[in-house]
Amino acid sequence: MKSVMSFPNRGPWGKSNWRGNTSGHVIREIIEHFSPKLFVDACEGSGTSGDVCRDMGVEYAGLDLYKGQDFTKDFILDQLPRPADIVFTHPPYADMITYSGEVYGNEAIAGDTSRCQSPEEFISKSQVMLMNQREATREGGIYATLIGDHRGGTLGRGNFRSYQSDFIQMMPKDELLSVTIKLQHNCLSDNRQYSGSFVPIMHEYLLLWKKKQKSLFEISFDMASEMTKRVATTWRNAIRIVMMKLKEARLSDIYTEVEKVAANLVANNPNYKAKIRQTLQKHFTNVERGVWAVA
Ligand SMILES: C[S@@+](CC[C@H](N)C(=O)[O-])C[C@H]1O[C@@H](n2cnc3c(N)ncnc32)[C@H](O)[C@@H]1O
Repeated sequence: MKSVMSFPNRGPWGKSNWRGNTSGHVIREIIEHFSPKLFVDACEGSGTSGDVCRDMGVEYAGLDLYKGQDFTKDFILDQLPRPADIVFTHPPYADMITYSGEVYGNEAIAGDTSRCQSPEEFISKSQVMLMNQREATREGGIYATLIGDHRGGTLGRGNFRSYQSDFIQMMPKDELLSVTIKLQHNCLSDNRQYSGSFVPIMHEYLLLWKKKQKSLFEISFDMASEMTKRVATTWRNAIRIVMMKLKEARLSDIYTEVEKVAANLVANNPNYKAKIRQTLQKHFTNVERGVWAVA
C-alpha cells in the first residue's frame, strides 16, 4: 500500500448499483498490507468488504444501519466475537447521498449520518463512529475510514468543507498512521468544463489510525490539551500579525486591530483583552506604560 491509490475499475465485489459503493481494491490493499485475522466493516452497504474477505479467507463481520446496527448508539465491540484487527468504515459524506429512505427502505432512520441537518451534527456523529470503531479495535490494530471532502448541500451553495481534516483533528494525533489519497474515477465532473475559481473534487482519503494502549478518558484529555495549545498558538499568531503591521502601538490600538484580525477568537472569549495583555507580556516588548512593540 502506498500513499496514493488509483483503481479505474471497482472490481467484482459488492454491488456497483449501491450508490457510494466502495472499490473492493481498497479493501484488498488494506488486507494485503496488514494481514488481519478479523476484519470489520461498520458501514457494510452492499457488502463489498465481506466479498473481498471471503475471497481472501479473512474472518469478517459486517454491520450497517439498514441491518439494525447504528454506530451512533450501538457499541460495535458488543457485536463482535473479539476486538478486531481492523475496523473499517466508508460512511456517508454528510448529505451527499441520502441512504435510509432513498438507497434503501421508504423511511428515514434515526442515526443515519446522511440525514444530518448541519455539518456540525455530521462531524459530531462521525466522531462517535470513529471512537466506537477504536473501542472495537484490539490494541495495535487498525481503525480506518474512507472519506471525501464536500461542497454544497447542508454546507450551503458553493461552500467547501474538508471532512478528512475534521476527522483527523478529532482523533488522537499520535495514533494517525497514514493518509492515503484515493483517486476517484468516472465522476460526473470528469468531462465538465468549469469556470471561475471552482476546483472539482477528484479524490477521497483513506485515513488509518493504529490503536495505542490508551483509555477513552486519556485520549479525550490529550485532545483537550491539544486544543488548548492550538488556541493559545492561534492567539499568539493573530497578535504577531497585528504587531507586524503596527510595529509599536498603544494597547487600545492593539485591541482594535486584533478585534478586526481575529473576530472569531474575540467572540469566543469575553476576557479577550486580558488574553491579549497576557500574550503581549510573554512575547513582546513593553516600551512604556501601555505601549508595546515587536521584540
Ligand atoms: C458509502 S455507504 C457504504 C458502501 C459500502 N462500503 C459498499 O461498498 O457498498 C455508507 C453506508 O453507511 C451506512 N450508515 C449511515 N449511517 C449509519 C449509522 N448510524 N450506523 C451504521 N451505518 C450507517 C449507510 O446505511 C450506508 O450503507
